[in-house]
Order: sequence, then structure tokens, then C-alpha cells
Amino acid sequence: MKLEGKVAVITGAAGGIGRGIAEMFAREGACVAIADRDAEKARETEAHIRSAGGEAAAFGVDVASGASVSRMVADVVSRFGRLDILVNNAGIRFVKPFLEYSEDEWRKTLDVNLTGLFLCCRAAVPQMLKNGKGKIVNVASVAGEFGRPHRIAYCASKGGAIAFTKALAVDLSGKNICVNALAPALIDTPLNAAYATDDTLATVWGKELLVRRWGRTEDVAAGALYLASDDSDFVTGAVLTIDGGWTAGLVRANELD
Ligand SMILES: NC(=O)c1ccc[n+]([C@@H]2O[C@H](COP(=O)([O-])OP(=O)(O)OC[C@H]3O[C@@H](n4cnc5c(N)ncnc54)[C@H](O)[C@@H]3O)[C@@H](O)[C@H]2O)c1
Repeated sequence: MKLEGKVAVITGAAGGIGRGIAEMFAREGACVAIADRDAEKARETEAHIRSAGGEAAAFGVDVASGASVSRMVADVVSRFGRLDILVNNAGIRFVKPFLEYSEDEWRKTLDVNLTGLFLCCRAAVPQMLKNGKGKIVNVASVAGEFGRPHRIAYCASKGGAIAFTKALAVDLSGKNICVNALAPALIDTPLNAAYATDDTLATVWGKELLVRRWGRTEDVAAGALYLASDDSDFVTGAVLTIDGGWTAGLVRANELD
């Protein structure tokens, strides 16, 4: 039990990677707050975790709204009494060529994927300071480190998330609050449903993935668990890549073709 007695807020935890993180954290003894804009699905996840013997509660939130985030954090603290861990996982993505992106799509992406981090950290950090310890895990993406086609706002937001992670780690130095990022890729979730069933992409990416399979939500959850637990107390401002070797092997895979 690596998270016994800890309270963890996980945004975007109604489904996909966030749900995988919530389930693993609950198995490790944490009380998990499933914070998602999809309140109904969040309640389903809560019920699933509780039926497996875990402690969980669903909270409706829009991470792009400061008022909504403040309310959610206050509700979590009144329900569980404290807040030790924040996983900023909620994210959205529009896939289309640069010139077809609307201003609204650009702003929405930045609002959720980047401003959401600022708002959630701003609300959660005072609780961590009260405890004398805290862990923040920002779910970025390899798209924050590499140019990916037709994802201009997504790449910019995830690059921003990585810079935000390092800057906040510096701002919170000496406060016993670790701030780190995960950079996953090719995880089988609803966000990637269209690609997981595309034969051409499945073949190309199947070759490029050094471990020869798509990632599972548990693969990312294991990284989040490390960064949320005492095991990573000497790790801050870091980016942990969880991509099946995809980015390390891109050149090699292309050369083999
Ligand atoms: N799936 C991948 O391969 C992959 C790769 C790299 C990074 N990521 C990142 O991992 C995170 C989770 O991705 P996923 O694949 O599980 O996606 P997903 O679409 O399955 O889940 C995202 C969740 O975030 C919630 N959400 C969206 N906007 C929100 C908002 N404004 N407020 C609160 N909740 C909101 C959704 O309701 C949903 O439950 C995202 O940040 C994504 O960018 C995913």
C-alpha cells in the first residue's frame, strides 16, 4: 500500500487514463476524488472503485473554470479532510490541419490542457502546504516534446504543460512539494478509439512501438503511482516518458522500412 492515508484528486478520471490512475491509487490505499466534467461517468467510476473495496467520491468540475475548480477542491477537503496528491489528467484534443483550426478550438484546448493545470495547482497547493508535503503529477504528452501532425493546439498545450511543470517545481522548491510530468503516447483509450481500429496506422505504429503493443491505462497509472508516492521524493521537475519506446525508436524504425 503505497498511498495509505493519502487523499488524491485526479482530474478527468471518469474514463481513460484518469480512471486507470484512480483505480490503481485506490488499490494502493488512497481516497480518490474523481474530478470530471462528466459527472455521470464519474459516479460510475466511483461505484466501480467502491465495489472493489476502495474509497472514492465523484466531483463534477470544469478544470478550465477557476470558480468550478475552487469549489471542487473545497468539496474534496470537506469530504476527505485533506488533499495530498493532485493528478492533472483532464485533457482534450482537436485533430485537423493548422489552417482549419478555429480560434475557439485553439482557446478551448489551451484553457483545458494548460490553464486547467494552473487553476488546479493554485487551488490544491495551499492544502499541500498545510500538510507539509505534496505531490503533483501533470499528464502531458510526447506531443509536448515533438511536433505531431494536425495537433497544433494540443502540441502547444502539452509543451506548455512540461514548461509549467518545471517552473512550478522551481517556485515550490524547499516546500516538500514535488511537481512532475508524464509524457505518454499511444495509450488505448476513448481519445484514440479511431486510431486503435485503423489498420494502416495500427501497422505503422505497431512497427514503431519498440514494445510491439499499444499502451494500457495501467502503464500510465504505474508511472503516476511512482510520482505520487514517497518512492519519488528526490524527483521533481522531471518528465517521465511512457511511450513503449516510440519516440526513442522513431529513427531506427524508419531506417528499417
Ligand atoms: N491516450 C493517449 O495515448 C494519450 C497520450 C498522451 C497524453 N494523453 C493525455 O492523457 C490525458 C487523458 O487522456 P485519455 O486518453 O484518457 O482521454 P479521454 O478522452 O479518454 O479522457 C479524458 C477525460 O477528461 C475529461 N475532461 C475533458 N475536459 C475536461 C474539463 N474541462 N474538466 C474536467 N474534465 C474534463 C473527460 O470527460 C474525460 O473523462 C489527457 O490529458 C491526454 O492529453 C493521452
